[in-house]
Amino acid sequence: MLWNTLLLFLTPALARTRLPARDTDPNDLSIYKQAIYLPFTKDFSSDYTPTVRGSINGRSFTFPVDTGSTGLMIGAPLLPDVDLSGSNADQYEQGWEFLTSSSLLYNGRFVPLDVTFYGSSRKYTAVSKVLVLVVQSVIKCPAYNSTTGQGICPDGGSVQSTASPKHVTYMGVGFGRNVAGSGLNFGSSDHNPFLNIVNINGRSTYSFRTGYVVSTTGVHLGLTTRNTRDAVWVDLDYGATDDWRDWAMVDMAMRVNEGQDEYAGKALVDTGIPQMFIQPPPGVKLPTVRILNPATNPTTKYTSRITNGTYLDFAFPSFQDGVAGYDFEVGDESFPSQPAYVQPVAGRPSTYFNSGRNFLFGFTIIFDADGGRFGLICLKCNDDEGYYGSGTD
Ligand SMILES: *[C@@H]1O[C@H](CO)[C@@H](O)[C@H](O)[C@H]1NC(C)=O
Ligand SMILES: *[C@@H]1O[C@H](CO)[C@@H](O)[C@H](O)[C@H]1NC(C)=O
Repeated sequence: MLWNTLLLFLTPALARTRLPARDTDPNDLSIYKQAIYLPFTKDFSSDYTPTVRGSINGRSFTFPVDTGSTGLMIGAPLLPDVDLSGSNADQYEQGWEFLTSSSLLYNGRFVPLDVTFYGSSRKYTAVSKVLVLVVQSVIKCPAYNSTTGQGICPDGGSVQSTASPKHVTYMGVGFGRNVAGSGLNFGSSDHNPFLNIVNINGRSTYSFRTGYVVSTTGVHLGLTTRNTRDAVWVDLDYGATDDWRDWAMVDMAMRVNEGQDEYAGKALVDTGIPQMFIQPPPGVKLPTVRILNPATNPTTKYTSRITNGTYLDFAFPSFQDGVAGYDFEVGDESFPSQPAYVQPVAGRPSTYFNSGRNFLFGFTIIFDADGGRFGLICLKCNDDEGYYGSGTD
């Protein structure tokens, strides 16, 4: 009897000392010590993509932080130290990127470079060792097919534009973007500047949780208990490659006008655009109006918008298991995360939502590349109707 009681008391203690790994929570962020905060260079706004400061080969750059694409592109004239002349270029892989939002097709070579990001002062740095697309040509090619294009604009498919490699500085840090038809064939984790950090403040990364936090004020590289406080989490599906950092876009569901039907799909919080895109499931018609296309170089005379007054309700990852969400009436300008407009789209392999960057007025977002999780910190759950998540009791 006595021995049994003693054993009951002793066993858990012994087990814990002998097998510490078994008891460790793989998502316990308290063990990570290294992180850096990169403040945005300007106040966050619906009107432009936020940017951070940095340098490559001693030359200063202002890098956009676009969570809707993946890969760093720098025009060849901006990196004179990189010699792509003649057969020198042959040592580097040929590559391209197509950005659907601008119809710009970039061609060049992938060059491994050290990219330095600056914290609140130049004393604080993060260094990424990453493949950079050094851009030798850029053309506006509305006729480009992202699935089959192979970096080549079809004959007669390009239009006049002022785009030139001299002006190319673009950075995509999104995850789950390297899927067929995205135009981001090379947008895998080894091309993502924020997922290849090797050094923080002069020390190599020895205690670093690969991932980032994006808010309206800046970016934290490296996840810690502190910079993820109050987050709720959604597990991510595996990505398109078997890279350990490659995860699919987050699951989200939508309801329209308080209807019973739930439309489940993949969601992108895209800091590169102010508007929202929705691709409903096949056969589902959303309330839309046809308008004259206001684009500067419209490829079609008319385009469509979700009708103002339509009530949209979103949940991460689903309504049943929702850990966070938001809802609003399209066109209601008092709602902080109201997109510039809401456009129905087609052509992607499945149901898809792009919240646009104004989402960040309601939530700070987190990508945990080590843990395969997407995190949300609700900023307005206590004072604004229309949001729920952490901060809501
Ligand atoms: C691109 O090509 C694929 C395969 O031929 C085709 O199914 C798809 O409709 C094309 N996309 C566009 C936008 O033309
Ligand atoms: C919807 O409402 C917004 C804000 O009031 C307005 O700017 C926009 O033009 C309206 N859109 C349409 C398609 O009517």
